[in-house]
Amino acid sequence: MQSRLEEGKDPAAILRTSSSRPFPFRLLQFFLLFLVIGLGASILSMYMIRHFGIQNVALVQSAYKPCFQQPSATIESWVRPTSGLMHTMNDSELLWRASFVPRIKNYPFKRRPKMAFMFLTKGPLPLAPLWENFFAGHEGLYSIYVHSLPSYTADFPPSSVFYERQIPSQVTEWGMMSMCDAERRLLANALLDISNEWFLLFSESCIPLQNFSIVHRYITRSRYSFIGAIDEPGPYGRGRYDENMAPEIKLTDWRKGSQWFEINRELAIRVVGDTTYYPKLDQFCTPHKCYVDEHYFQTMLTIDSPHLLANRSLTYVDWSRGGAHPATFGKDDIKEELFKTILQDQTCLYNNQPSSLCFLFARKFAPNALEPLLKIAPKVLGI
Ligand SMILES: *[C@@H]1O[C@H](CO)[C@@H](O)[C@H](O)[C@H]1NC(C)=O
Ligand SMILES: *[C@@H]1O[C@H](CO)[C@@H](O)[C@H](O)[C@H]1NC(C)=O
Ligand SMILES: *[C@@H]1O[C@H](CO)[C@@H](O)[C@H](O)[C@H]1NC(C)=O
Repeated sequence: MQSRLEEGKDPAAILRTSSSRPFPFRLLQFFLLFLVIGLGASILSMYMIRHFGIQNVALVQSAYKPCFQQPSATIESWVRPTSGLMHTMNDSELLWRASFVPRIKNYPFKRRPKMAFMFLTKGPLPLAPLWENFFAGHEGLYSIYVHSLPSYTADFPPSSVFYERQIPSQVTEWGMMSMCDAERRLLANALLDISNEWFLLFSESCIPLQNFSIVHRYITRSRYSFIGAIDEPGPYGRGRYDENMAPEIKLTDWRKGSQWFEINRELAIRVVGDTTYYPKLDQFCTPHKCYVDEHYFQTMLTIDSPHLLANRSLTYVDWSRGGAHPATFGKDDIKEELFKTILQDQTCLYNNQPSSLCFLFARKFAPNALEPLLKIAPKVLGI
């Protein structure tokens, strides 16, 4: 037992003992054999590398690529919008993300400014075919966002401009803060695309009154953003102001107007970034004393950026029939004369100059107005 251990302990001793035999020739044989095997193996491996090795290297590279080319590491990921509009951010996260502003004003890439058309609807867009005609041929100059009730599933075909343009939505009620929340949600989602420069809000009952070229030119060349914001005396204007809103909001700042706006990126960022006026309106402008969608953005922007506001709306609406709601135009109303009335005899200021083109859009149009609208549009609206 001990001798075996001793033998194992010292292999050199074994070698030494065997070295007494005539070994050199045998060792040379072994050495040559190893040399041949080694040479063969290295030649084989060279062939392997030449024929398969490069492919293997490529495979390894492509497998590792995601580590070095993560979307967030390229300028394109900041410039090019994501293909889908769905995300898992809640409102706090979304508004925070959308409030990012680059400090360097010159873009280090070619930026083609777009108009974001934002549709605030309950569900379907019955006048979509008219809008489709309006957008046709102007790809790259616009983007579309739709906020509808979360229970509603849109079924636009892939060929439609509205296909997969729905944003994560929540239930909204007219006259409530949830309406302004939806508008801020639309703005925030549209702000995520850095190419969007103008933000236009519509309902499902809105129609365009001019062709795309005219709308584009009018809005992009305007020095001001469009939102109806007037200081209205009386119970439905100043009467809705609550002294608890001071000192942030003074009575002289209080504005009223329709919620359908066309604002630039700077103002859109101010709206999503507001944490000063929101709590005041949320707490003190409540139904049935006050209707927040007629006051919040109008008042907030008047305090924040009065010099950037045209204080008028580009969306025509007919209050002439009286009552609490504006007129709805149905299929029997769609005649050339209606549009003559809307488009003629208008005067307003555009870039501080008198202009006869004051309305680019109109509401409210019933779903059954679609067919006569499509017929009349080429001649009357140029669409
Ligand atoms: C969004 O999620 C964050 C983190 O879970 C939470 O703190 C915040 O209150 C949420 N905001 C809303 C509006 O739900
Ligand atoms: C848009 O309308 C204007 C005036 O009606 C017209 O001159 C122009 O050619 C139209 N543009 C297109 C692209 O149809
Ligand atoms: C809009 O109203 C604000 C005050 O509310 C004023 O400072 C601004 O000059 C008005 N805009 C235009 C284009 O007149």
